[in-house]
Amino acid sequence: MTGATPSRRTIISGFAALPMAACGQKSKSQDLPTPVDPPPLKSLAPFPFGCAVSVERLSDPVYSALLTRNFSQLTAEWEMKMEYILQDDGSFRFDRPDRIAAFARDNRMRLFGHTLVWYAQDPAAFRPFDGRGPVFAGALRNYILAVVGRYRGQAVGWDVVNEPVAEQGDGLRDCLWSRNLGQVDYIRRAFDYAREADPEVPLLINDYNLESLPAKRSQFMRLVETLLKSGTPLGGIGTQSHIDVSLPAGAIGRSMRDLASFGLPIHISELDISLNRGRGPLSSDEQLRVRQVRLAKEMAEAFAALPPAQRFAFTTWGLRDKDSWLRGPKENPTPPWDAPLLFDDDGRAKPVFSAQAEGLTASAALRRPSA
Ligand code: XIL
Repeated sequence: MTGATPSRRTIISGFAALPMAACGQKSKSQDLPTPVDPPPLKSLAPFPFGCAVSVERLSDPVYSALLTRNFSQLTAEWEMKMEYILQDDGSFRFDRPDRIAAFARDNRMRLFGHTLVWYAQDPAAFRPFDGRGPVFAGALRNYILAVVGRYRGQAVGWDVVNEPVAEQGDGLRDCLWSRNLGQVDYIRRAFDYAREADPEVPLLINDYNLESLPAKRSQFMRLVETLLKSGTPLGGIGTQSHIDVSLPAGAIGRSMRDLASFGLPIHISELDISLNRGRGPLSSDEQLRVRQVRLAKEMAEAFAALPPAQRFAFTTWGLRDKDSWLRGPKENPTPPWDAPLLFDDDGRAKPVFSAQAEGLTASAALRRPSA
């Protein structure tokens, strides 16, 4: 059976219905089978596959064809954040969020809301309320009621508070919201307001570096516990998973098991696997790609191993490498350009795509009976 790598056999046994062409051609390395004519990502497992998008890209037919073929859920990468919606004079701007919502509806995709309160964004419209407790709280409530209310019935979830834990995990963030409303209280309030706006929608808390920094994960878990004990309507956990190739083997599984211990749904909410952030002085491009492929498989396996009710969604932060925020001038001003996503600049599925598909087959719960 020439060309049949272990990965190819695994994919075939896991997904009897997959076309043979999906199963990969050997590249230079045994670890990097490049998928040929791969099946749609969303056909590979019975949970939502999300992708971060922008209005501008959605209007490109080549982009939107690849997106709708592979993904079943959308997150606005920027245009549903406070920085976009709330203007300096306090008025709201829903033009682009509405276009993303309409695209999702027209293409029968789920819409995920990201994000209501984020330490990194403290818009000018809040400045007049700074230091005026109840008035400040009222302004935040108005904002959340307007945004969550607008997509009520369509949004399948919201990142209510984004990145609440301090960078190294030594406490919670000090920010405009915590200074005005209290370190935990601003979080509780944001959840309560979101629940008031939509009694049904799952409300999530989202953070990053939970895989790479166990101390940060512990702090995050203490926060989750505090929120649950105080009756906050927390309905899920988002782990952004902006990881890089230096992440040691096993870290993803440990993090996933810890986070899943609350029994809440888990959202891998912003997955990308940076080559450049983990590029040591001696790593060749080939070595970096091999590590990327292994981590993609680990991530898929860890998620697929969760009980079905805890698999909220599996979201990648962009479609093609050239769409990634890691290509921005700040992150990546000079070559070598980063390549953290599933599809290359031309929209071709990369070896990480095969690895992710293979990781999904690792879960017995996901296997379809063979014919
Ligand atoms: C980033 C977007 O990718 C950029 O386009 C935007 O300018 C800034 O925000 N954590 C998050 C995301 O929760 O919202 C961030 O997205 C990436 C880090």
